[in-house]
Amino acid sequence: MKLNVKRLRRFTAERWPKSMGKTHGVNHWDRVARFGEMLFQEGADMDVIQAFAYLHDSQRNNDGEDYEHGPRASKFIDTIRVSQLSALNDEQIDKLKRACELHTIEDRTGDITIDICFDSDRMDLLRVGITPLPDRMATKKGADLVSIPNYKEFYTDFVKKVKDEIAND
Ligand SMILES: [Fe+2]
Ligand SMILES: [Fe+2]
Repeated sequence: MKLNVKRLRRFTAERWPKSMGKTHGVNHWDRVARFGEMLFQEGADMDVIQAFAYLHDSQRNNDGEDYEHGPRASKFIDTIRVSQLSALNDEQIDKLKRACELHTIEDRTGDITIDICFDSDRMDLLRVGITPLPDRMATKKGADLVSIPNYKEFYTDFVKKVKDEIAND
């Protein structure tokens, strides 16, 4: 992995307006990043998955029904490509942009990297009380994980673990 994830995290977290609330802020992004690690499989691109975590919701205008935030994030990527994403090549940027653009529109794409991005975001739906549906997950690993009988318990432990890890980082 060449991408400086901590630097990107700082960059987007600093720009997230305090008025925006917490549903889509850095705490969510941290969990998406960790879920991305959990869902990783051979052939996928971890740099793209980590960059997705910290960018996909970064251009929201509100914490609710902002349907254009995915395409907006995709366009934003062009503007920070040199300053923040120079570690990514053209193909990686293309995947990252597609993942951001489509994350609220498509269930799956068939591209393992993009599909892991989608699932890492969906795995965190319980924060708003929504249990992810296995049929709507993009990867088998994601579908299997949200199908475990004690998913809610697993999720609660996961939230605490990520919080502790970040606090001690
Ligand atoms: Fe989103
Ligand atoms: Fe999200």
